[in-house]
Amino acid sequence: MLKGRTIVLGIESTAHTFGCGIVDEDGNILADVRDTYVPEKGGIHPREAAQHHSNVSAEIVAKALSEAGLTINNVDAIAIALGPGLGPCLRAGAVIARALAIHYSKPLVPVNHAVAHIEIGKLLTGAKDPLVVYVSGGNTLIAAFSGGRYRVFGETLDIALGNCLDVFAREAGLAPPYVIKGMHVVDLCAEKGSKIIDLPYVVKGEDLSYSGLLTAALKKLSEGKEKLEDICLSFRENAYNMLIEASERALAHTRKKEVLLTGGVAASPILQNKLKLMVKEHNASLHVTPKKYAGDNGVMIAWTGLLMFKHGITIEPEEAFVNQRWRLDEVDIPWMK
Ligand code: FE2
Repeated sequence: MLKGRTIVLGIESTAHTFGCGIVDEDGNILADVRDTYVPEKGGIHPREAAQHHSNVSAEIVAKALSEAGLTINNVDAIAIALGPGLGPCLRAGAVIARALAIHYSKPLVPVNHAVAHIEIGKLLTGAKDPLVVYVSGGNTLIAAFSGGRYRVFGETLDIALGNCLDVFAREAGLAPPYVIKGMHVVDLCAEKGSKIIDLPYVVKGEDLSYSGLLTAALKKLSEGKEKLEDICLSFRENAYNMLIEASERALAHTRKKEVLLTGGVAASPILQNKLKLMVKEHNASLHVTPKKYAGDNGVMIAWTGLLMFKHGITIEPEEAFVNQRWRLDEVDIPWMK
């Protein structure tokens, strides 16, 4: 506690980023330090990423405290993302969070990573009770608050949108890097396409399936009959339009007046524009989490941890187990009415 303000330190390690953030109860970001594991080739190797997190964790936490001009004594609680995510990565973060909580006798707060993406988006955009469209490398879901929890109205039945885009980009030789000048390489390549090729478009109610689209796009690629730019355009249009259709159905269903786009894929200006058009049709407002905080970071864990801590939610370090499949709708949200 500093001058009567509660301060929480949050640790994020669910996938390729190890982050430490520090926030106060007014929503001020006091520190934001991160380090991201970059595989030499291919996708994330969970154990290599976890090794990276273990190597950098002590230094990142120390850097965050110094950035905030604080010592650990000024911190009221330690928040840790216990899931969902990659098991070895989650465990690497949990080890340091438990150690800090035990060694310095600080309360430990168990944060759900998906809730954190939503809460940081609300804090930074001013959205109060939005329909949430959360799209990242590991998650694709459409959710809204109802009856004490964020309820999942739609989600991917197989792979996440971000993963679908990244795998295609890698297989097509477009990546890495995955993002050039703020645009995903698939978005960039699609800009030069002119022809729409028939590819799978799978929306089931408010749920989505991306694996068939990915397989079919890769097949078109290997056949070599279509231009890469046209495959990218067709692939991207289907991938985004599927999400817009499911989101529109959820918006009509929930009648929310705000839509929050969050997660790493939220940075796509193409996706943002498509969503903006749909949201306008329903007289709702679109809120996009600022790019810096749309991807994984420790600040979102610290802020959600602070909300939880203020509502008396803590966990004994001995019971703070990671949960790779911890669902958004299993978490009580007492700070919303
Ligand atoms: Fe994430």
